[in-house]
Amino acid sequence: MADILLKVEDLQVAYGGIRAVKGISFEVREGELVSLIGANGAGKTTTLKALTGLQPMSAGSIALFGRTINGCGTWDLVRQGLVMVPEGRGTFTRMTIHENLQMGAFTRRDAAIAADIERVFALFPRLKERRDQLAGTMSGGEQQMLAMGRALMSRPKVLLLDEPSMGLAPLMVDKIFEVIADIHRQGTTVLLVEQNASRALALADRGYVMESGEISSSGDAQDLLADPRVRAAYLGE
Ligand SMILES: Nc1ncnc2c1ncn2[C@@H]1O[C@H](COP(=O)(O)OP(=O)(O)OP(=O)(O)O)[C@@H](O)[C@H]1O
Ligand SMILES: [Mg+2]
Repeated sequence: MADILLKVEDLQVAYGGIRAVKGISFEVREGELVSLIGANGAGKTTTLKALTGLQPMSAGSIALFGRTINGCGTWDLVRQGLVMVPEGRGTFTRMTIHENLQMGAFTRRDAAIAADIERVFALFPRLKERRDQLAGTMSGGEQQMLAMGRALMSRPKVLLLDEPSMGLAPLMVDKIFEVIADIHRQGTTVLLVEQNASRALALADRGYVMESGEISSSGDAQDLLADPRVRAAYLGE
């Protein structure tokens, strides 16, 4: 079996008195695409924020390549290969597409940056056509593409995606899920957070279901898709 890249044990996160994440454990192995699904307010974004050093954890441990990363800062984690595309995308709206992609490579000093920009353009031809357009003037779907492209520029070992399909039109949702599959096929390990459970599980190797700050079920993505409880709660059946 492949090595464990990311291991989360008994993670707890609270906002003041509100316990948003109540002791969850999960892992992501090298080369896997793992989906974390769950309803509004289940604690998915909070989990990703704790993983990327944006929200302090109140208990538990997180390890990347077997080494604890508790308390590491966000930039340090990007350098170590843990990179998030946040909910709401967070592109630099006053910069062009090309400049946004260059910013994504800020942790790097190597000579392959231009080649990687071409790789991102190959994944997202739309971005290439618009390389000199200001990010803030792009559509929601284009901004999602840019946010994913920018994250890829740091050559992530694990790419964390928070609701990449949120608010997008159906055709754009198809496109985004296709590209996630491509990124995974090209060897990047992915942790995908989604409310679109059926699409997220269809792409995934394994999945975890989060409910009120806890993991209520987990397993092979196909098994979860077939599980009557998951179907009733998250697939509208
Ligand atoms: N900054 C904050 N301050 C206080 N409570 C918060 C804060 N952020 C989130 N919460 C609460 O923590 C819980 C989990 O929120 P979280 O954003 O992690 O859920 P989620 O699973 O990502 O939901 P969604 O699918 O709607 O994005 C919710 O009850 C939410 O109201
Ligand atoms: Mg969220």
